[in-house]
Amino acid sequence: MDIKSVILAAGKGTRMKSNLPKVLHEILGKALVGYVLDSVKHITNENFVIVGHHAEEVEKYVISHYENAKTVLQSPQLGTGHAVSMICPMLENYSGQVLILCGDTPLITEDTLKKFVEYHKENKSDITVMSAIFENPTNYGRIVRDSDNSLKCIVEEKDATLEQKAIKEVNAGIYCINWAKVKSAFSQLTSNNAQGEYYLTDIIEWGKKNGLSVNAYIMENNIETFGINSRVQLAEALKLLQKRINEKHMINGVTIVDPETTYISADTEIGQDTIIYPSTYIEGENKIGSNCKIGPMAHLRGGVEIGDYCKIGNFVEVKKAKIASHTNAGHLSYIGDSEIGSYVNIGAGTITANYNPLTKVKSKTVLEDNVKIGSNTVLVAPVKVEEGANVGALSVITKNIPAWALALTRSPLRVLSDWVKKQL
Ligand code: UD1
Ligand code: CA
Repeated sequence: MDIKSVILAAGKGTRMKSNLPKVLHEILGKALVGYVLDSVKHITNENFVIVGHHAEEVEKYVISHYENAKTVLQSPQLGTGHAVSMICPMLENYSGQVLILCGDTPLITEDTLKKFVEYHKENKSDITVMSAIFENPTNYGRIVRDSDNSLKCIVEEKDATLEQKAIKEVNAGIYCINWAKVKSAFSQLTSNNAQGEYYLTDIIEWGKKNGLSVNAYIMENNIETFGINSRVQLAEALKLLQKRINEKHMINGVTIVDPETTYISADTEIGQDTIIYPSTYIEGENKIGSNCKIGPMAHLRGGVEIGDYCKIGNFVEVKKAKIASHTNAGHLSYIGDSEIGSYVNIGAGTITANYNPLTKVKSKTVLEDNVKIGSNTVLVAPVKVEEGANVGALSVITKNIPAWALALTRSPLRVLSDWVKKQL
Protein backbone atom coordinates (compact mmCIF):
# COMPACT_ATOMS: atom_id res chain seq x y z
CA MET A 1 0.00 0.00 0.00
CA ASP A 2 1.22 3.47 -0.86
CA ILE A 3 1.33 5.45 2.40
CA LYS A 4 2.76 8.86 3.17
CA SER A 5 2.78 10.46 6.58
CA VAL A 6 2.06 13.95 7.81
CA ILE A 7 3.53 14.76 11.20
CA LEU A 8 2.15 17.86 12.88
CA ALA A 9 4.88 19.83 14.56
CA ALA A 10 4.14 23.50 13.97
CA GLY A 11 2.64 24.28 17.37
CA LYS A 12 4.28 26.54 19.88
CA GLY A 13 4.77 24.21 22.82
CA THR A 14 4.30 27.13 25.24
CA ARG A 15 4.32 24.97 28.35
CA MET A 16 7.85 23.72 27.72
CA LYS A 17 9.01 27.30 28.54
CA SER A 18 11.89 26.88 26.15
CA ASN A 19 13.74 28.54 23.32
CA LEU A 20 14.14 25.14 21.77
CA PRO A 21 11.15 24.02 19.70
CA LYS A 22 9.18 21.39 21.60
CA VAL A 23 9.68 18.56 19.13
CA LEU A 24 13.48 18.99 19.32
CA HIS A 25 13.62 18.31 23.04
CA GLU A 26 15.43 15.03 23.46
CA ILE A 27 14.96 11.76 25.25
CA LEU A 28 18.11 9.62 25.44
CA GLY A 29 19.80 11.62 22.71
CA LYS A 30 16.93 11.60 20.22
CA ALA A 31 14.51 14.43 19.47
CA LEU A 32 10.82 13.83 20.12
CA VAL A 33 9.99 14.15 16.42
CA GLY A 34 12.73 11.59 15.72
CA TYR A 35 10.80 8.97 17.67
CA VAL A 36 7.71 9.65 15.58
CA LEU A 37 9.65 9.56 12.30
CA ASP A 38 11.22 6.26 13.38
CA SER A 39 7.81 4.78 14.17
CA VAL A 40 6.69 5.26 10.54
CA LYS A 41 10.03 4.33 8.98
CA HIS A 42 8.92 0.89 7.80
CA ILE A 43 5.36 1.90 6.95
CA THR A 44 5.57 5.00 4.78
CA ASN A 45 7.61 5.93 1.74
CA GLU A 46 7.57 9.69 2.23
CA ASN A 47 7.02 11.89 5.28
CA PHE A 48 5.98 15.51 5.60
CA VAL A 49 6.66 17.30 8.85
CA ILE A 50 4.54 20.42 9.28
CA VAL A 51 6.70 23.10 10.85
CA GLY A 52 5.90 26.61 12.03
CA HIS A 53 7.44 27.62 15.29
CA HIS A 54 11.22 27.76 14.95
CA ALA A 55 10.65 26.23 11.53
CA GLU A 56 14.29 26.46 10.41
CA GLU A 57 15.61 24.57 13.42
CA VAL A 58 13.09 21.78 13.06
CA GLU A 59 13.72 21.63 9.32
CA LYS A 60 17.46 21.36 9.85
CA TYR A 61 17.01 18.46 12.23
CA VAL A 62 14.49 16.63 10.07
CA ILE A 63 16.33 16.82 6.78
CA SER A 64 19.72 16.06 8.25
CA HIS A 65 18.47 12.93 10.06
CA TYR A 66 15.76 11.53 7.77
CA GLU A 67 16.32 11.28 4.05
CA ASN A 68 12.71 10.48 3.13
CA ALA A 69 11.30 13.38 5.14
CA LYS A 70 10.49 16.93 4.04
CA THR A 71 9.24 19.86 6.02
CA VAL A 72 6.31 22.04 5.03
CA LEU A 73 5.82 25.47 6.52
CA GLN A 74 2.54 26.38 8.19
CA SER A 75 2.41 30.07 9.00
CA PRO A 76 0.33 31.25 10.76
CA GLN A 77 -0.83 28.17 12.65
CA LEU A 78 -4.59 28.05 12.40
CA GLY A 79 -5.25 24.57 13.79
CA THR A 80 -4.63 20.90 13.10
CA GLY A 81 -6.93 20.80 10.04
CA HIS A 82 -5.16 23.81 8.58
CA ALA A 83 -1.82 22.14 9.28
CA VAL A 84 -2.69 19.05 7.22
CA SER A 85 -4.07 21.22 4.41
CA MET A 86 -0.50 22.51 3.87
CA ILE A 87 0.34 19.32 1.97
CA CYS A 88 -2.53 19.65 -0.50
CA PRO A 89 -0.39 21.34 -3.19
CA MET A 90 2.21 18.55 -2.92
CA LEU A 91 -0.25 15.69 -3.19
CA GLU A 92 -2.59 16.94 -5.88
CA ASN A 93 -2.53 13.74 -7.89
CA TYR A 94 -1.74 11.35 -5.08
CA SER A 95 -4.09 8.40 -4.77
CA GLY A 96 -2.68 6.50 -1.77
CA GLN A 97 -3.24 6.74 1.98
CA VAL A 98 -2.04 9.44 4.35
CA LEU A 99 -1.13 8.62 7.93
CA ILE A 100 -1.40 11.66 10.20
CA LEU A 101 0.43 11.88 13.53
CA CYS A 102 1.68 14.46 16.03
CA GLY A 103 5.35 15.23 16.47
CA ASP A 104 5.24 15.23 20.26
CA THR A 105 4.14 11.63 20.97
CA PRO A 106 7.39 9.66 21.26
CA LEU A 107 5.78 6.54 22.73
CA ILE A 108 3.84 5.53 19.64
CA THR A 109 5.16 2.23 18.27
CA GLU A 110 5.57 0.83 14.79
CA ASP A 111 3.64 -2.21 15.93
CA THR A 112 0.54 -0.21 16.83
CA LEU A 113 0.73 1.81 13.62
CA LYS A 114 0.99 -1.37 11.56
CA LYS A 115 -2.11 -2.79 13.24
CA PHE A 116 -3.89 0.52 12.70
CA VAL A 117 -3.08 0.66 9.00
CA GLU A 118 -4.03 -3.00 8.63
CA TYR A 119 -7.41 -2.26 10.23
CA HIS A 120 -7.90 0.69 7.86
CA LYS A 121 -7.13 -1.54 4.89
CA GLU A 122 -9.22 -4.54 5.97
CA ASN A 123 -12.26 -2.40 6.65
CA LYS A 124 -11.84 -0.56 3.34
CA SER A 125 -12.04 2.55 5.42
CA ASP A 126 -11.72 6.05 3.96
CA ILE A 127 -11.05 7.70 7.31
CA THR A 128 -9.82 5.78 10.32
CA VAL A 129 -9.08 7.52 13.57
CA MET A 130 -7.14 5.92 16.38
CA SER A 131 -9.00 6.06 19.66
CA ALA A 132 -8.06 5.20 23.22
CA ILE A 133 -10.00 4.53 26.37
CA PHE A 134 -9.06 6.59 29.41
CA GLU A 135 -10.66 6.51 32.85
CA ASN A 136 -9.79 10.18 33.06
CA PRO A 137 -10.15 11.55 29.53
CA THR A 138 -9.53 15.22 30.39
CA ASN A 139 -8.07 17.39 27.61
CA TYR A 140 -8.58 14.92 24.80
CA GLY A 141 -11.18 15.21 22.06
CA ARG A 142 -14.04 12.79 22.75
CA ILE A 143 -15.22 10.16 20.28
CA VAL A 144 -18.98 10.53 19.86
CA ARG A 145 -20.81 7.48 18.53
CA ASP A 146 -24.35 7.07 17.15
CA SER A 147 -26.93 4.74 18.70
CA ASP A 148 -25.74 2.00 16.30
CA ASN A 149 -22.22 2.48 17.68
CA SER A 150 -20.88 3.93 14.41
CA LEU A 151 -18.70 7.03 14.57
CA LYS A 152 -20.54 10.33 14.58
CA CYS A 153 -17.98 13.04 15.29
CA ILE A 154 -15.15 14.14 17.55
CA VAL A 155 -15.82 16.90 20.07
CA GLU A 156 -12.97 18.83 21.62
CA GLU A 157 -13.02 19.18 25.40
CA LYS A 158 -13.55 22.93 25.08
CA ASP A 159 -16.60 22.41 22.86
CA ALA A 160 -18.05 19.41 24.71
CA THR A 161 -21.30 19.26 26.65
CA LEU A 162 -21.23 17.78 30.17
CA GLU A 163 -22.67 14.59 28.77
CA GLN A 164 -19.94 14.39 26.09
CA LYS A 165 -17.25 15.09 28.66
CA ALA A 166 -18.24 11.84 30.39
CA ILE A 167 -17.22 9.82 27.30
CA LYS A 168 -14.09 7.79 27.99
CA GLU A 169 -13.20 7.01 24.39
CA VAL A 170 -10.88 9.75 23.14
CA ASN A 171 -9.16 10.80 19.95
CA ALA A 172 -5.52 9.67 20.06
CA GLY A 173 -4.68 12.19 17.33
CA ILE A 174 -3.61 9.60 14.74
CA TYR A 175 -5.52 9.16 11.49
CA CYS A 176 -5.28 7.21 8.28
CA ILE A 177 -7.11 8.69 5.31
CA ASN A 178 -7.74 7.84 1.71
CA TRP A 179 -6.24 10.99 0.29
CA ALA A 180 -8.13 11.22 -3.01
CA LYS A 181 -11.48 10.87 -1.25
CA VAL A 182 -10.79 13.14 1.71
CA LYS A 183 -8.57 15.91 0.34
CA SER A 184 -11.48 18.14 -0.60
CA ALA A 185 -12.50 18.24 3.09
CA PHE A 186 -9.56 20.49 3.81
CA SER A 187 -10.94 23.37 1.77
CA GLN A 188 -14.31 23.01 3.49
CA LEU A 189 -13.35 23.05 7.18
CA THR A 190 -14.55 26.00 9.25
CA SER A 191 -13.18 27.55 12.42
CA ASN A 192 -16.53 27.93 14.06
CA ASN A 193 -15.58 26.51 17.48
CA ALA A 194 -14.38 27.44 20.97
CA GLN A 195 -10.74 27.83 19.88
CA GLY A 196 -11.42 29.52 16.53
CA GLU A 197 -9.23 26.89 14.84
CA TYR A 198 -9.60 24.68 11.80
CA TYR A 199 -9.99 21.32 13.49
CA LEU A 200 -8.70 18.21 11.78
CA THR A 201 -11.22 16.29 13.87
CA ASP A 202 -14.04 17.77 11.77
CA ILE A 203 -13.13 15.46 8.88
CA ILE A 204 -15.03 12.70 10.73
CA GLU A 205 -18.36 14.48 10.44
CA TRP A 206 -17.48 15.63 6.92
CA GLY A 207 -16.76 12.03 5.91
CA LYS A 208 -20.05 10.78 7.30
CA LYS A 209 -21.97 13.53 5.48
CA ASN A 210 -20.23 12.66 2.24
CA GLY A 211 -21.01 8.98 2.50
CA LEU A 212 -17.47 7.80 3.19
CA SER A 213 -16.51 4.82 5.31
CA VAL A 214 -15.41 6.33 8.64
CA ASN A 215 -14.13 4.13 11.47
CA ALA A 216 -12.30 4.19 14.77
CA TYR A 217 -9.59 1.75 15.79
CA ILE A 218 -9.34 1.39 19.56
CA MET A 219 -5.67 1.08 20.45
CA GLU A 220 -4.57 -1.61 22.91
CA ASN A 221 -2.07 0.35 24.94
CA ASN A 222 -3.32 3.89 25.55
CA ILE A 223 0.01 5.00 27.02
CA GLU A 224 1.31 5.24 23.44
CA THR A 225 -0.77 8.39 22.90
CA PHE A 226 1.17 10.15 25.65
CA GLY A 227 2.02 13.60 24.33
CA ILE A 228 4.69 15.89 25.72
CA ASN A 229 3.55 19.36 26.69
CA SER A 230 5.85 20.16 29.60
CA ARG A 231 9.21 19.20 31.04
CA VAL A 232 7.41 17.17 33.68
CA GLN A 233 5.88 15.07 30.93
CA LEU A 234 9.25 14.87 29.17
CA ALA A 235 10.68 13.20 32.26
CA GLU A 236 7.63 10.93 32.55
CA ALA A 237 8.06 9.84 28.94
CA LEU A 238 11.72 9.05 29.59
CA LYS A 239 10.73 6.75 32.44
CA LEU A 240 8.15 4.98 30.29
CA LEU A 241 10.62 4.54 27.44
CA GLN A 242 13.35 3.40 29.82
CA LYS A 243 11.13 0.63 31.13
CA ARG A 244 10.09 -0.45 27.65
CA ILE A 245 13.66 -0.50 26.30
CA ASN A 246 15.22 -2.21 29.33
CA GLU A 247 12.55 -4.91 29.33
CA LYS A 248 13.17 -5.57 25.64
CA HIS A 249 16.89 -6.14 26.31
CA MET A 250 16.26 -8.32 29.35
CA ILE A 251 13.83 -10.46 27.36
CA ASN A 252 16.56 -10.79 24.71
CA GLY A 253 19.08 -12.11 27.22
CA VAL A 254 20.86 -9.02 28.53
CA THR A 255 21.28 -8.70 32.30
CA ILE A 256 20.41 -5.25 33.58
CA VAL A 257 21.35 -5.25 37.23
CA ASP A 258 19.27 -2.21 38.17
CA PRO A 259 16.81 -1.20 35.44
CA GLU A 260 15.71 1.84 37.45
CA THR A 261 19.10 3.55 37.12
CA THR A 262 20.05 2.22 33.69
CA TYR A 263 19.26 4.31 30.62
CA ILE A 264 19.65 2.81 27.17
CA SER A 265 18.67 4.63 24.00
CA ALA A 266 16.14 3.12 21.63
CA ASP A 267 18.83 2.70 18.97
CA THR A 268 21.26 0.58 20.96
CA GLU A 269 21.71 -3.10 20.17
CA ILE A 270 23.09 -5.37 22.87
CA GLY A 271 24.21 -8.96 22.52
CA GLN A 272 23.24 -11.86 24.72
CA ASP A 273 24.84 -12.37 28.14
CA THR A 274 26.14 -8.86 28.34
CA ILE A 275 25.71 -7.36 31.78
CA ILE A 276 24.85 -3.70 32.24
CA TYR A 277 25.69 -2.49 35.73
CA PRO A 278 23.84 0.31 37.57
CA SER A 279 23.87 4.00 36.65
CA THR A 280 24.92 3.42 33.07
CA TYR A 281 23.73 6.01 30.55
CA ILE A 282 23.67 5.12 26.85
CA GLU A 283 22.59 7.69 24.25
CA GLY A 284 22.34 7.66 20.46
CA GLU A 285 23.08 4.75 18.13
CA ASN A 286 25.32 2.01 19.48
CA LYS A 287 26.04 -1.66 19.07
CA ILE A 288 27.32 -3.68 22.00
CA GLY A 289 28.36 -7.29 21.51
CA SER A 290 27.68 -10.30 23.67
CA ASN A 291 29.32 -11.24 26.98
CA CYS A 292 30.41 -7.68 27.70
CA LYS A 293 30.40 -5.92 31.05
CA ILE A 294 29.31 -2.30 30.88
CA GLY A 295 29.38 -0.01 33.89
CA PRO A 296 28.66 0.68 36.66
CA MET A 297 28.54 4.36 35.77
CA ALA A 298 29.61 4.05 32.15
CA HIS A 299 28.55 6.66 29.60
CA LEU A 300 28.17 5.73 25.94
CA ARG A 301 27.40 8.78 23.84
CA GLY A 302 26.52 7.36 20.44
CA GLY A 303 28.36 6.00 17.43
CA VAL A 304 29.87 3.31 19.64
CA GLU A 305 30.49 -0.22 18.41
CA ILE A 306 31.79 -2.73 20.90
CA GLY A 307 32.68 -6.33 20.10
CA ASP A 308 32.21 -9.37 22.34
CA TYR A 309 33.82 -9.99 25.73
CA CYS A 310 34.71 -6.34 26.30
CA LYS A 311 34.69 -4.46 29.55
CA ILE A 312 33.80 -0.79 29.77
CA GLY A 313 34.05 -0.05 33.45
CA ASN A 314 33.22 2.71 35.88
CA PHE A 315 33.48 6.32 34.81
CA VAL A 316 34.46 5.42 31.28
CA GLU A 317 32.98 7.67 28.60
CA VAL A 318 32.92 6.43 25.01
CA LYS A 319 31.88 8.42 21.97
CA LYS A 320 32.10 7.50 18.28
CA ALA A 321 34.47 4.60 18.75
CA LYS A 322 34.87 1.13 17.38
CA ILE A 323 36.20 -1.33 19.91
CA ALA A 324 36.98 -4.91 18.87
CA SER A 325 36.41 -7.99 21.02
CA HIS A 326 38.23 -8.83 24.27
CA THR A 327 39.27 -5.25 24.91
CA ASN A 328 39.05 -3.62 28.32
CA ALA A 329 38.77 -0.04 29.47
CA GLY A 330 38.12 -0.62 33.11
CA HIS A 331 38.24 2.74 34.82
CA LEU A 332 38.09 6.51 34.49
CA SER A 333 38.80 6.94 30.79
CA TYR A 334 37.59 8.93 27.80
CA ILE A 335 37.59 7.20 24.44
CA GLY A 336 36.41 9.33 21.53
CA ASP A 337 36.85 9.19 17.73
CA SER A 338 38.79 5.99 18.09
CA GLU A 339 39.36 2.66 16.47
CA ILE A 340 40.55 0.07 18.90
CA GLY A 341 41.59 -3.47 18.11
CA SER A 342 41.07 -6.67 20.06
CA TYR A 343 42.86 -7.72 23.25
CA VAL A 344 43.73 -4.10 23.94
CA ASN A 345 44.04 -3.01 27.54
CA ILE A 346 43.38 0.61 28.32
CA GLY A 347 44.70 1.57 31.74
CA ALA A 348 42.82 3.71 34.22
CA GLY A 349 42.68 7.38 33.42
CA THR A 350 43.56 7.09 29.74
CA ILE A 351 42.32 9.98 27.62
CA THR A 352 42.07 10.23 23.86
CA ALA A 353 42.62 13.95 23.27
CA ASN A 354 40.60 14.06 20.08
CA TYR A 355 39.49 17.66 19.98
CA ASN A 356 41.48 20.76 19.15
CA PRO A 357 39.46 23.65 20.58
CA LEU A 358 41.35 26.21 18.45
CA THR A 359 40.75 24.60 15.07
CA LYS A 360 37.60 22.79 16.27
CA VAL A 361 38.91 19.74 14.44
CA LYS A 362 38.36 16.25 15.83
CA SER A 363 41.01 13.65 15.05
CA LYS A 364 41.24 9.93 15.33
CA THR A 365 43.11 7.62 17.66
CA VAL A 366 43.96 4.14 16.45
CA LEU A 367 45.07 1.40 18.82
CA GLU A 368 45.83 -1.83 17.00
CA ASP A 369 45.36 -5.36 18.35
CA ASN A 370 47.15 -6.31 21.58
CA VAL A 371 48.19 -2.76 22.45
CA LYS A 372 48.56 -2.04 26.17
CA ILE A 373 48.15 1.53 27.37
CA GLY A 374 49.47 2.37 30.84
CA SER A 375 47.41 4.36 33.32
CA ASN A 376 47.03 8.11 32.97
CA THR A 377 48.12 8.21 29.36
CA VAL A 378 47.06 11.01 27.03
CA LEU A 379 46.82 9.98 23.39
CA VAL A 380 46.95 13.20 21.39
CA ALA A 381 45.10 12.54 18.14
CA PRO A 382 45.69 12.03 15.29
CA VAL A 383 47.80 9.18 16.56
CA LYS A 384 48.27 5.48 16.04
CA VAL A 385 49.75 2.86 18.31
CA GLU A 386 50.61 -0.12 16.17
CA GLU A 387 50.08 -3.74 16.94
CA GLY A 388 51.35 -5.04 20.26
CA ALA A 389 53.09 -1.82 21.30
CA ASN A 390 53.05 -0.81 24.96
CA VAL A 391 52.78 2.67 26.39
CA GLY A 392 54.14 3.27 29.88
CA ALA A 393 51.98 4.91 32.51
CA LEU A 394 51.69 8.70 32.55
CA SER A 395 52.82 9.14 28.94
CA VAL A 396 51.73 11.81 26.52
CA ILE A 397 51.74 10.23 23.08
CA THR A 398 51.96 12.75 20.26
CA LYS A 399 53.27 10.60 17.43
CA ASN A 400 52.73 7.13 16.05
CA ILE A 401 54.28 4.24 17.95
CA PRO A 402 55.61 1.32 15.89
CA ALA A 403 54.50 -2.25 16.50
CA TRP A 404 55.82 -4.08 19.56
CA ALA A 405 57.72 -1.00 20.85
CA LEU A 406 57.57 0.48 24.34
CA ALA A 407 56.83 4.20 24.45
CA LEU A 408 57.44 6.30 27.53
CA THR A 409 57.40 10.04 28.15
CA ARG A 410 57.56 9.77 31.89
CA SER A 411 60.39 11.62 33.68
CA PRO A 412 62.84 9.24 35.33
CA LEU A 413 62.20 8.27 38.94
CA ARG A 414 64.67 9.80 41.38
CA VAL A 415 65.07 8.41 44.87
CA LEU A 416 66.97 10.68 47.24
CA SER A 417 68.05 8.58 50.21
CA ASP A 418 67.25 9.96 53.66
CA TRP A 419 66.06 13.24 52.09
CA VAL A 420 63.24 13.58 54.62
CA LYS A 421 65.49 13.06 57.59
CA LYS A 422 67.81 15.82 56.35
CA GLN A 423 64.95 18.29 56.46
CA LEU A 424 64.29 17.72 60.15
C1 UD1 B 1 -5.68 17.32 19.29
C2 UD1 B 1 -7.06 16.90 18.80
C3 UD1 B 1 -7.77 16.14 19.94
C4 UD1 B 1 -6.93 14.94 20.36
C5 UD1 B 1 -5.51 15.37 20.72
C6 UD1 B 1 -4.65 14.15 20.90
C7 UD1 B 1 -7.77 18.60 17.21
C8 UD1 B 1 -8.64 19.76 16.99
N1 UD1 B 1 -7.80 18.06 18.42
O1 UD1 B 1 -5.88 18.22 20.38
O2 UD1 B 1 -9.04 15.71 19.51
O3 UD1 B 1 -7.55 14.28 21.45
O4 UD1 B 1 -4.92 16.16 19.67
O5 UD1 B 1 -3.39 14.50 21.36
O6 UD1 B 1 -7.08 18.18 16.31
N2 UD1 B 1 -0.34 21.74 15.33
C9 UD1 B 1 0.14 22.26 14.15
N3 UD1 B 1 -0.44 23.36 13.64
C10 UD1 B 1 -1.52 23.96 14.22
C11 UD1 B 1 -2.00 23.43 15.41
C12 UD1 B 1 -1.39 22.31 15.95
O7 UD1 B 1 1.11 21.74 13.58
O8 UD1 B 1 -1.99 24.95 13.67
C13 UD1 B 1 0.31 20.55 15.88
C14 UD1 B 1 0.88 20.76 17.26
O9 UD1 B 1 2.23 21.16 17.19
C15 UD1 B 1 0.76 19.37 17.88
C16 UD1 B 1 -0.46 18.77 17.17
O10 UD1 B 1 -0.67 19.54 16.02
O11 UD1 B 1 1.88 18.56 17.60
C17 UD1 B 1 -1.70 18.75 18.04
O12 UD1 B 1 -2.07 20.09 18.33
P1 UD1 B 1 -2.63 20.52 19.72
O13 UD1 B 1 -3.02 21.94 19.69
O14 UD1 B 1 -1.73 20.07 20.80
O15 UD1 B 1 -3.97 19.63 19.77
P2 UD1 B 1 -4.72 19.17 21.03
O16 UD1 B 1 -5.39 20.34 21.64
O17 UD1 B 1 -3.85 18.35 21.87
CA1 CA C 1 -4.96 22.85 21.03
